[in-house]
Amino acid sequence: SVVTFISHDGEKHEAPLEDGESLMQIAVSNMVPGIDGDCGGEAACGTCHVIVDDSWADAVGRATSVEEEMLAMNPEREPTSRLSCQMTMSENCDGLVVRLPEFQM
Ligand code: FES
Repeated sequence: SVVTFISHDGEKHEAPLEDGESLMQIAVSNMVPGIDGDCGGEAACGTCHVIVDDSWADAVGRATSVEEEMLAMNPEREPTSRLSCQMTMSENCDGLVVRLPEFQM
């Protein structure tokens, strides 16, 4: 199972899906550029922002109110934006595609 991160310039980074891990942890363990996860997954730094592909938006759900607080300050925020540290991966997420913003905060 894999998840795919697409950087702002269109470069694709695939990473193995780890059941029960957050999408941020998967990105950091696989050194996906553009996801820093500075706060360690506390929804407090905003450096793990991803934009979920439209076809996956319903399956992974929308941002929670805690995420909304961080995302509200982000000029690159889009309707399907999420903090990837708040997205717990399961086998249902096999094939997930997310885009990375141009600038991480
Ligand atoms: Fe800090 Fe997600 S890692 S908000």
